[in-house]
Amino acid sequence: MQLPKHVAIIMDGNGRWAKARGHNRFFGHIRGAKRAKQIIEECARLNVQNLTLFTFSTENWKRPAEEVNFLMLLLRKRLKSETKNLIKNNIRFHCIGDLSQLPTSVLDQVNNTIEQTKNNTGMNLTFALNYGGRQEIISAVKSLAEDVDAGRIEPKDIDEALISNKLPSSFLQDPDLIIRTSGESRLSNFFLWQAAYAEFYVTPIYWPDFDAEALQDAFSKFALIERRFGMTSEQVLKNLFDGNNSPPIDLV
Ligand code: IPE
Ligand code: IPE
Ligand code: MG
Repeated sequence: MQLPKHVAIIMDGNGRWAKARGHNRFFGHIRGAKRAKQIIEECARLNVQNLTLFTFSTENWKRPAEEVNFLMLLLRKRLKSETKNLIKNNIRFHCIGDLSQLPTSVLDQVNNTIEQTKNNTGMNLTFALNYGGRQEIISAVKSLAEDVDAGRIEPKDIDEALISNKLPSSFLQDPDLIIRTSGESRLSNFFLWQAAYAEFYVTPIYWPDFDAEALQDAFSKFALIERRFGMTSEQVLKNLFDGNNSPPIDLV
């Protein structure tokens, strides 16, 4: 089965999952974190090359302070306790997003886990943390404007590759599969640039219930999709016969 090379997941529905069971939202986040561990390890076991998890958006700061504080505490604790398992599973940890706004204790732990896993050669696990697609595009545009101002490039040089290289996710290829749990079919400011040709898979399952079988369903559906990248079905089939199964180079 053709596995996606970069899976990105919008982990949504912790609060509703908890509410439906008569618990508070915090309990939903605890179960969501446990689920994240299981899905990370399952993806590594299946030899997925890149997994990105939308962990905290730039808009999530608008939530009640107690919830934001709890999410930060949970992130720090889980990263601390799971770093050894990441090493054991040869997973390399990365972060994208504006980390400068994170509480110092969280930032220290994030940097610690990045450092401790930097020599791992297996799956790239990326947390999108204080991440906003529009914000990173704004930063990229500012940086390109500075390059023009300093005479390093000319406006006519600006192309897809130059913009992609300014994004913090430039070390990753674009996601080929984006999964969103809990039935919402929106990006919520996630991977606006990178999602250009991603397949979008929405499941009504709340994130704390999204298990290995649910992941397999998403992968099975992905494997059946004909990815045309603007071409015709006949061209895609011909490319397959010619042994060329990859998207146009600027989309990889
Ligand atoms: C996802 O679950 C976790 C984060 C966004 C941090 P939610 O907390 O958004 O759960 P719902 O959408 O309210 O059910
Ligand atoms: C998106 O979920 C952010 C993360 C999963 C981290 P939200 O629950 O914040 O998205 P909206 O508000 O429903 O669009
Ligand atoms: Mg939500």
